[in-house]
Amino acid sequence: MTALWNTEAHAVEIAPPRNLPSFAAFAVSHPSEPVPAVDPAEANLITASMVPARRDALARGRAAAHAALRAIDLDSGPILSGPNREPLWPDGVTGAITHTAGFGAALVAPTAATDGVGVDLEERRLTPELWDHLPRPEEREWLDDLATAERETAILALFSAKESVFKAFFPRVGTFFGFEQASLSPTPSGFVGHLLDGLDADYPRDRTFEITGGRCGNLVLTSLVLPKTPGSKQ
Ligand SMILES: CC(C)(COP(=O)(O)OP(=O)(O)OC[C@H]1O[C@@H](n2cnc3c(N)ncnc32)[C@H](O)[C@@H]1OP(=O)(O)O)[C@@H](O)C(=O)NCCC(=O)NCCS
Repeated sequence: MTALWNTEAHAVEIAPPRNLPSFAAFAVSHPSEPVPAVDPAEANLITASMVPARRDALARGRAAAHAALRAIDLDSGPILSGPNREPLWPDGVTGAITHTAGFGAALVAPTAATDGVGVDLEERRLTPELWDHLPRPEEREWLDDLATAERETAILALFSAKESVFKAFFPRVGTFFGFEQASLSPTPSGFVGHLLDGLDADYPRDRTFEITGGRCGNLVLTSLVLPKTPGSKQ
């Protein structure tokens, strides 16, 4: 298959998401650096059945998460995994982890300041399979209006944004929800999303939220930091 983009790994530096609130932090473990050692408690997450690339990804994601937590002075313990593979954060913080193309990255924030955060990195590639199940009808409309070359990046960005949305909301709702449950429209800085089904009392149907998107060389990075809902009981 002809490569549409330069897919050379290690070719980019990943800039932090634009307009990141000062209470949040983002960090990256770069593939040009040696694979970091993991915290002894986190080492239990590495199983014999994991291929080396998966072990490295886990280590880089955890290293990025600890670096981000140190940046906000909240690195207080190991980050284990829950039954649905969701990261279990030390008390008082929340975050999200992503890894692709040898990079690990994490976005973290104090729970006092946010309802949840999400981050996702995708390597730019042709993704014909996404067209079958990812876009909602109204998303397909704006995708279809784009020039062909732009559409390929746009659908990957839409996919990444929905992965970020999932990571931000999963710790709240504790259950899987599908790509069809959030509708995303493009904005100059990424997307505005709105929920088509309520997720909980703070996130009823039609609540909107902003997702930041950007390209870093051959990677697409999306993220969101949900503001704290005033008066929330969660
Ligand atoms: C879980 C999921 C989001 C991971 O995304 P991915 O692009 O495959 O992989 P990434 O490298 O970006 O992220 C992997 C990290 O996600 C995190 N993650 C995994 N499951 C998670 C969950 N249930 N909740 C929150 N974070 C989760 C983990 O930290 C994982 O890294 P680790 O195993 O090293 O700790 C994805 O596989 C998935 O299941 N998506 C379907 C659900 C969805 O996106 N719905 C759309 C809602 S609009």
